[in-house]
Amino acid sequence: MTHSPVRTAIFPVAGLGTRFLPATKATPKELLPVLDTPLIQYAINEARDAGIQKMVFVSHSSKAAIERYVMDDGDLRQTLMARGKTELAKQLKETSLHALVDDVVFTFQHEPLGLGHAVLCARDHVLPGAVAVILPDDLILGRSCIGELIDTYQSSDCGYVVGTMPVESKDTEKYGILSVTERIGSLLRANGMIEKPKAAVAPSLDAVIGRYVLDEIIFDALAIQSPGAGNEIQLTDAINSNAKSVGLAGLRFSGKRFDCGNKAGMLQAALHVASEDPEYEEILGKFVFQGRSPIAA
Ligand code: UTP
Repeated sequence: MTHSPVRTAIFPVAGLGTRFLPATKATPKELLPVLDTPLIQYAINEARDAGIQKMVFVSHSSKAAIERYVMDDGDLRQTLMARGKTELAKQLKETSLHALVDDVVFTFQHEPLGLGHAVLCARDHVLPGAVAVILPDDLILGRSCIGELIDTYQSSDCGYVVGTMPVESKDTEKYGILSVTERIGSLLRANGMIEKPKAAVAPSLDAVIGRYVLDEIIFDALAIQSPGAGNEIQLTDAINSNAKSVGLAGLRFSGKRFDCGNKAGMLQAALHVASEDPEYEEILGKFVFQGRSPIAA
């Protein structure tokens, strides 16, 4: 069985980002950079690589800087050109979204009522069919993770497809954990997931990360979903509510994931990206301890 193409990506970017205060008082978490590239840019690149046609950003009025960053700034490019910085101007043109060319919408979640609620706020703006959801603070380097999930969704009868990765039992409390029913290579069929279980009751060690391909029926489920943990409308609860009828599978993606929702993950991401660039070799060399690089792990 095959499904129709997944054409829309939803980027929920309306959260408070409290783990990065005080920085997030003025700078949205999604604009925090790994060296010089904001998290949201990585997310946009991943969606573009997956052939996404429409991008819906669910933002908040206090986070207008996200739209300013994402959309092309012709004046800035002109200034750069006038100063002879042609290459930089070209790069900005390529990485930005363009109002007259790209199908892009900014909509608002007026209160951070949860990830599920943020996804529901995108409902009126998505193209027909399943949607991709990308949480920019989960940075995934390598092949487009959402592209891998979309390929799986389209070529199988899995129903909802979520990004998954193995975790140690001490870490199950930090993630949604899949109740796996069948393992077929990198595909894990499941009949639900449990939000942040203690190791003793975790149904597996397969954690769900911030990439989802969701059948459009998710919007009906979200519309009637009661608040759950933290008194928020949880995306996990809505997926669980009809996972058995729609189907659910986790895909072990091939890329390398960094949890940039917290400081340690952000630091690891920056060290990883720097370690791949000869420009930083010398400076990173100064951080080698006991013959082992802190980024070797
Ligand atoms: P997080 O769960 O990391 O929450 O959101 P947060 O509020 O941004 O950060 P902390 O926990 O306070 O530090 C994951 C993604 O979902 C978005 C966030 O903007 C982030 O991109 N989100 C979260 C929303 O858009 N709305 C919400 O109500 C919650």
